[in-house]
Amino acid sequence: MTHTIALLPGDGVGPEVMAEARKVVDAVGLQIEWTELPWGSAFWHEHGRMMPEDAIEVLRAHDAILMGAVGHPSVPDHVSLWGLILEIRQRLDLWANLRPARLLDGIPTPLAGRGPADVDMLFVRENTEGEYAGVGGRAHRGLHHEVAVETSVFTREGTERVVRLAFDLAEGRRGILTSATKSNASRYGYVLWDEIAADVAAEHPGVRYERVLVDALAARMVRDPGSLDVVVASNLFGDILTDLAAAIQGGMGMAASANVAPGAGVPGLFEPVHGSAPDIAGRGIGNPAGAVWSAALMLEHLGEQEAAGRVLAALESVCRDGPRTRDVGGAASTVEVGDAVAARVAG
Ligand code: NAI
Ligand code: MG
Repeated sequence: MTHTIALLPGDGVGPEVMAEARKVVDAVGLQIEWTELPWGSAFWHEHGRMMPEDAIEVLRAHDAILMGAVGHPSVPDHVSLWGLILEIRQRLDLWANLRPARLLDGIPTPLAGRGPADVDMLFVRENTEGEYAGVGGRAHRGLHHEVAVETSVFTREGTERVVRLAFDLAEGRRGILTSATKSNASRYGYVLWDEIAADVAAEHPGVRYERVLVDALAARMVRDPGSLDVVVASNLFGDILTDLAAAIQGGMGMAASANVAPGAGVPGLFEPVHGSAPDIAGRGIGNPAGAVWSAALMLEHLGEQEAAGRVLAALESVCRDGPRTRDVGGAASTVEVGDAVAARVAG
């Protein structure tokens, strides 16, 4: 069976880490058909848009999407994000963003006295609404009384499906579900979120459910990460908490993510959590681990459990024994790390 994969290298460090992820997937030996799509900031400069008009139809025709990152200093960030990644997440209704935050053996963490046994969290981020629903506007542009309104959107359906998925995932792990909320200061959206979470919790007696205010949760991630298993969060909270989680698991270069709509029959989009890293792009030193890990998540969602396990095991072995890039204490290049993982995958 052939899997068709749309590859979006994107901008900056994106193409560098994607080349390694692709190399590792090819080393598995499955039948994969890649379609490389040159969308991103260079495309915007040439065509005035981040991707072509039929982009969503093109993506829909594939089994999965593997993406690097988008964003370039020459394009306003809200243009590049809304023109590509946010557009894809919303139009394909990829409502869940799964972000495993596990500290791999051999990778340094900034938390003193902590090791791999203390850091194994799975973030489930709502991915299509909340604070990033794109509802709002600006009036009186440039005038003294200029106003900008950005409205959060919480729907019962959108909240319930992501909370339910998080409970299901917690059932298959250590059985603890933490819901990140802010229903003290926010009186509407997060109060609805809490009510839905409590209802879904009642259907999952095997899961220990707790509701934690997001600011306190941020502190707890640093002080006691081992107490956290699955965390479900809104779009904004999930975005912020997973950068903190990435730091705890060794840095932005380590973190992976899956944008999925379980059961919907649309291709998932798999991407490292990091952005285009303009500060290190073009130097061949970006860490490909998050990209490779994302490719493993992709293989898992394609039903290739054995292949996914092989990629993850190879990545873990390289993190443990080296080579490693400099952001995680080594001196190797992006390509050297990718080669090492691919060699272990092959065999
Ligand atoms: P960033 O994630 O690109 O970089 C933050 C820091 O992490 C930098 O110091 C960078 O060098 C480091 N870093 C990132 N990836 C790394 C890797 N693979 N290996 C080693 N170090 C790595 O976030 P930043 O600087 O805030 O944003 C840069 C651009 O990326 C912006 O245009 C932003 O809008 C865009 N962006 C795009 C995302 C996406 O495509 N999903 C996500 C986040 C940001
Ligand atoms: Mg982010």
